[in-house]
Amino acid sequence: MSGTGSVGTLRTLNSFAIDIMSIRNAEDLFWYVARNVVGRLNFVDCVIYEADPATEELVQVAALGDKNPYGRTILNPLRIPFGEGITGRTARTGEAVVIEDLLSNQNYIPDTQPARSEICVPLISDGRVLGVIDSEHPEAGAFGPAELEVLSTIAAMTSAKLDLLAETERSEQRYRDLVQSHAQLSAETETRKALEAQLFEARKLEAIGRLTGGFAHGFNNLLTVIAGNLDLVGEHRVPPEVGVFLGDARAAADRGANLIRDMMAFSQQMRLVPQPTDLNALIAETWDRNQKAFGCDVEMAFEAGTWTVAVDPSATEIALVNLMMNARDAMEDRGTIRIETGNLVCDDVARRTRGLDLAPGRYVRLSVTDEGMGIPPKTLQRIFDPFFTTKVVGQGTGLGLSMVQGFVKQSGGSIIARSGPMGGATFDVYFPAIDPDVNESLT
Ligand SMILES: Nc1ncnc2c1ncn2[C@@H]1O[C@H](COP(=O)(O)OP(=O)(O)O)[C@@H](O)[C@H]1O
Ligand SMILES: [Mg+2]
Repeated sequence: MSGTGSVGTLRTLNSFAIDIMSIRNAEDLFWYVARNVVGRLNFVDCVIYEADPATEELVQVAALGDKNPYGRTILNPLRIPFGEGITGRTARTGEAVVIEDLLSNQNYIPDTQPARSEICVPLISDGRVLGVIDSEHPEAGAFGPAELEVLSTIAAMTSAKLDLLAETERSEQRYRDLVQSHAQLSAETETRKALEAQLFEARKLEAIGRLTGGFAHGFNNLLTVIAGNLDLVGEHRVPPEVGVFLGDARAAADRGANLIRDMMAFSQQMRLVPQPTDLNALIAETWDRNQKAFGCDVEMAFEAGTWTVAVDPSATEIALVNLMMNARDAMEDRGTIRIETGNLVCDDVARRTRGLDLAPGRYVRLSVTDEGMGIPPKTLQRIFDPFFTTKVVGQGTGLGLSMVQGFVKQSGGSIIARSGPMGGATFDVYFPAIDPDVNESLT
């Protein structure tokens, strides 16, 4: 065969050895071998097949010459069962063959361009046939020992590279699996940590609640006795200065009663009498009654037609006043408190996006927003803890929000506090709406 001079061959094989390093996948490799190796060595044609062990077939993956007029696309890749024809037999036996004259060979399957001689070498790794390189020539006796040696060398280099590519793919896959399972593990750990924190928080509150609840009950009874006796003394005629002392004692007993009421509320032991309530009306009345006590502006934005809720009206009023007092304290008497209401259907989406810990259903939201200093993230985690306060002694008991949360929970609702880095805070309270049918029978 012409052009396979030994210097040219050596140079082609050398550059193959270098170029092969940068080839990244099997497809590129097959085309490179067909065009830049076999092609450059002046073989007139070349077809490379890859073995498909699942179907026991050779599948044409690259070609050079007249049999491949479509560039790098093979329109109808030829599939040859192992054992069939010359290439199929090479795939089965794993042995290279040179056929001097195809006219006298009964295994030859002629195609559109009949040839006279053929050379076929297997791509082998670990005793497994990965594919076949095949070349035909229109003249008889075109291939001899020199061509066999060259093509066998090319086949050996190609097989080694195919092995390397497969190994690279396997380790990349292992790496991807590892990354994925690591991510999964991290997510699971995160979820567990969050659940544990929630559980811890719930247990802590439950313990404090039980303790305070028991204590508050006992103390409330004592206060009732004290207040009752003070009232009895007051019914007698007493010197005016004694009357002043009595008045102070009575006021202190009342303050004590308020404190106890908040403690019972956060331990969810408040005596509640829920009634069908129009929140918008209740908020307006609360504001009317307490307006004087607040030295700041209030803006109301009520959604018309909010659903009726079942709440204890006086506890709701206390809760609202608590939130408004906190808002006022945060603003140091400047700025506007905004009170909003709105309906919400709580479904899975709302639960996820709003972080609501509510059973699915219909709720009415009451939001109190202020323009105060805001709540730093660290503080935000603790504001509902009983006795947590950032206020100076005498100004805060740390029971306000605990009361609100206890009451809201006892009413089947939920409360969420939000605050951004720019200051200002919002408390969203959700009360369950009354079922429309029940609603009708109640009103
Ligand atoms: N609107 C608000 N803006 C900023 N901080 C707030 C707000 N509401 C509550 N807080 C924080 O939460 C803490 C606890 O509130 P609370 O339970 O009502 O107790 P107290 O008002 O007696 O301190 C407050 O001391 C304050 O640090
Ligand atoms: Mg408060």
